[in-house]
Amino acid sequence: MSTVLVTGGNGYIGSHTVISLFENGYDVVIADNLANSKMEVQRRLEKICGRSFKFYNVDCCDEEALSVVFEENKIDAVIHFAGLKAVGESVTIPLDYYSNNIGSMITVCRLMKKYGVRELVFSSSATVYGMSEDVPFTEESPLGVCTNPYGWTKWMIEQILRDFSKAEPDMKICLLRYFNPVGAHESGLIGEDPRGIPNNLFPYISKVAGGTLEKLTVFGDDYPTPDGTCLRDYIHVCDLADGHVKAIQYLDSHDSGVCLFNLGTGKGTSVKEAIAAFEKACGHPINHVFGPRRPGDIAVCYASTEKAEKELGFKARYTIDDMCSSCWKWQTMNPEGLSDN
Ligand code: NAD
Ligand code: UD1
Repeated sequence: MSTVLVTGGNGYIGSHTVISLFENGYDVVIADNLANSKMEVQRRLEKICGRSFKFYNVDCCDEEALSVVFEENKIDAVIHFAGLKAVGESVTIPLDYYSNNIGSMITVCRLMKKYGVRELVFSSSATVYGMSEDVPFTEESPLGVCTNPYGWTKWMIEQILRDFSKAEPDMKICLLRYFNPVGAHESGLIGEDPRGIPNNLFPYISKVAGGTLEKLTVFGDDYPTPDGTCLRDYIHVCDLADGHVKAIQYLDSHDSGVCLFNLGTGKGTSVKEAIAAFEKACGHPINHVFGPRRPGDIAVCYASTEKAEKELGFKARYTIDDMCSSCWKWQTMNPEGLSDN
């Protein structure tokens, strides 16, 4: 049985990926410093999978501490989710973002080299396409100019990994560019659990639907789109998780080098359509008002899914209705999020 080290495996996407890996016969070791997640996630994973996973509370920037994980386990592949991801916060504390996101990636690469681990999957983002609206974004679309330090960390790490691969020709590296991950596990036991007031659309709608927040402000209804609100490619987090299993399987059966895939559905959903879908899922209206555009937003962003379908065998299964109903289940089962200890 192959063992996958999942850094950031206690977080939103990481925890769902742990389940997909487990269901596909992989053993999993998790390294997470709980910077943006709670230990309760491990208890929830145990409930869902019927077993616990080896968990290390470790900062992936700390080479000495992380080396213990490689010493104590025979790791076959690494999926590197660990990182900070709040766009607004990255503008306020850019140095923390650069040092945490880039530092953790470099440390992981150094240890992979030292311990002879050859397979790496990295969480990149559609944000690397920048402000272009030449949709759909294909893997060949040019890299853009990012609008915030968070985006630049993804852009820079992609470049670092290309350079690393040239210097270490045995390495097999897969860059996955996620579009907009939303939704929750069907059990309602794990889901997105943001600190404070959410910035992203789905966690915000969930909290308005659940009554914790009063109303949603729709950022702009004068975009050049059919209903005037922005289009995004929302992808169910469980589909995204399965994409990571496909990526590991792809690396297992391919030669060394860097490969790159978008993970999206290929379909744009407007903010108005997302609200309507959520209203259907929760059974009552979502209080919302229309406000000005949010600086840095683009009108339209969705993926070309052709390459992932053809080469990775990945195709998203879940619809926007599935995403909303799973979000709503998670929200109603955990109105205050997860407990802190
Ligand atoms: P998340 O914050 O829920 O999970 C990240 C996890 O990494 C957290 O549990 C956090 O405690 C941990 N972590 C952060 N820094 C660490 C460090 N130095 N050492 C050890 N653990 C550390 O975020 P997520 O939504 O699950 O995102 C996972 C990855 O995917 C991130 O790299 C993120 O940038 C990327 N991504 C996310 C989205 C999205 O919309 N959620 C989109 C594109 C890319
Ligand atoms: C955000 C990040 C992006 C990241 C992506 C994936 C910003 C500026 N960008 O993008 O870097 O890769 O998430 O997680 O934060 N909206 C509202 N009202 C709200 C919140 C959002 O109308 O209260 C609208 C936004 O204007 C946008 C859509 O909903 O049109 C989706 O927003 P969001 O969930 O923040 O995702 P992105 O903007 O795509």
